[in-house]
Amino acid sequence: MDKVLSGIRPTGFLHLGNYFGALKNFIKMQEENDCYFFIADYHSLTTHPHPADLRTNVKNVLVDYLAAGLDPEKATLYIQSDLPEVCELSLLLSMNVYIGELQRVSSFKEKVRRQPNNVNAGLLSYPILMAADILVHRADKVPVGKDQEQHLEMTRDFAQRFNNFYGVDFFKLPVAYNFGQELVKIPGLDGSTKMSKSDNENSCIYLSDTPEVIRKKVMKAVTDSGPIEPNQPKPQAIENLFALMRAVSSPETVQFFETEYNECRIRYGDMKKQLAADMIAFIAPIHERILELRSDDDYLRKVVRLGAEKAHESAAPTVRFVREVIGIKPL
Ligand code: ADP
Ligand code: TRP
Repeated sequence: MDKVLSGIRPTGFLHLGNYFGALKNFIKMQEENDCYFFIADYHSLTTHPHPADLRTNVKNVLVDYLAAGLDPEKATLYIQSDLPEVCELSLLLSMNVYIGELQRVSSFKEKVRRQPNNVNAGLLSYPILMAADILVHRADKVPVGKDQEQHLEMTRDFAQRFNNFYGVDFFKLPVAYNFGQELVKIPGLDGSTKMSKSDNENSCIYLSDTPEVIRKKVMKAVTDSGPIEPNQPKPQAIENLFALMRAVSSPETVQFFETEYNECRIRYGDMKKQLAADMIAFIAPIHERILELRSDDDYLRKVVRLGAEKAHESAAPTVRFVREVIGIKPL
């Protein structure tokens, strides 16, 4: 059985993009693979979150994951900082990683541009910690978006380098896992091509949004005055509404509005009302579960304790072996 691993930085609530782009596939994958899903709270420290926010964000992601359908019995669901093996492996790997190669990483260069007053060493060593996350479980597959591919490539480099340096065939080289045909990009409500909380909070519909909030956000979505000739290509903002509709509405509903558009009869007010209703219906069961879970700290504590135990079982033998190979042995 393949070991699949994915981490997410706790930086806010999960939105429909996270759901359709990642979570939905995780829920399927947990049935057939040995899955490890963790909340990368160490990684999120690079941007210096307020301690109270960090705790809340970790809880929110955990709750959203569970509410959407991740099953802590089937998958290993844990918090990164509950697995100290990651830190040790990260330190050990770092001895064979060179400053130059870290400085050339595009996500690092991007951060230097975006937060020039906080170019901390954690940002530089981010790919080492991420490699440790993956290698500590000797994962086979890592579902990642385009922006993480370079990190994964570095993980393979570090793994191969360790194997070569110590003359062992220990670390497997993890591959990016993409969902092929099912790879979807959910657009934003602001006319942008990607729903993203890092780019624009207002473009997002969160799994935890109430029906009133969803309705308000959808009704405010960008549109135009409508097509003047039949069968014209759609401007980006309008295509976005259709893409969102394809995600949550029935094919008949989508077809109805396609025809309305192609025949220049479309009323965006009606379309948005329908889209809001379908989104609310789609999110309702998840939303309900979110409310239940938020007030069930006992259950959440049980989930993370179980996750930490299972993650430890998988990680401990790796670190034991690496220490041994490196020469860290009892006197
Ligand atoms: P954000 O851009 O809101 O900060 P993240 O980078 O935390 O989102 O997203 C975590 C994962 O969710 C990504 O690796 C990707 O798989 C998925 N994802 C995020 N936004 C979208 C989107 N708009 N469409 C499809 N998948 C998405
Ligand atoms: N860097 C990833 C992101 O920003 C999060 C992450 C940390 C991760 N460790 C990981 C993803 C290990 C996959 C595997 O989205």
